[in-house]
Amino acid sequence: TPAEVAEHSEDGVRRRDFINIAAVGAAGVGGVATLLPLISQMAPSADVLAESSTEVDISAIEPGQAIKAVFRKQPLFIKRLTRSEIEAANAIEADSLRDPESLGDRTKEGHEDVLVTMGVCTHLGCVPLGAAEGEIKGEFGGYFCPCHGSHYDTAGRIRKGPAPTNLEVPEYEFTSDTVIRVG
Ligand code: FES
Repeated sequence: TPAEVAEHSEDGVRRRDFINIAAVGAAGVGGVATLLPLISQMAPSADVLAESSTEVDISAIEPGQAIKAVFRKQPLFIKRLTRSEIEAANAIEADSLRDPESLGDRTKEGHEDVLVTMGVCTHLGCVPLGAAEGEIKGEFGGYFCPCHGSHYDTAGRIRKGPAPTNLEVPEYEFTSDTVIRVG
C-alpha cells in the first residue's frame, strides 16, 4: 500500500544517514583502506534520488549467477537462484530470522528465482561479496560482507554478523519476462 511504501522509504533514508555518519567516523580512524569501500555509500543528493528508474536485461543471468548493476549510484545485485538455493531459502522458518522475511516476501510472484537487492551491507554500508563468479559467498551461500563479517543467505537475509537487517530490496517491477525496471 502507499502507506507501507512511504514508511519503507523513510527507513531507507534513515539508514543512509546512519551509513553516511558511520563512513565519516570510520574514515577518521581507519585511513584510506577503510575510506575507499565506504566513500561510494555517501547519502545520495536530491538529484540522484530523483534520477529516473534503471532498466536491466536479466536474460543472460544463468541460475546460480549474479550480476552487479548500479541504481542511484549504489550497487545493485541481481541474482538468479538455482532450484536448490530456492529450496534452501524456503526451508528456513522466516520467524526464526533476525529480520523475518520469506523468499516470497522478497521476490515477485512467478519470479521467485530472481532476487534483486541493493549491494549495500546494512551494517555500515560496505559492498558484500558474492555478486560475481568466484567471489566468496559466505557460509549461508548468499553474500558475505568483508568489512565486519556479516553473512547473508541465498535470499539476501542477514543470518550472522553485525548487520541488523536484510539486504534492501528496492522497488522494482518486471516490464517483460527478461527486463526489470528498478525505481
Ligand atoms: Fe560491517 Fe558489512 S559493513 S559487516
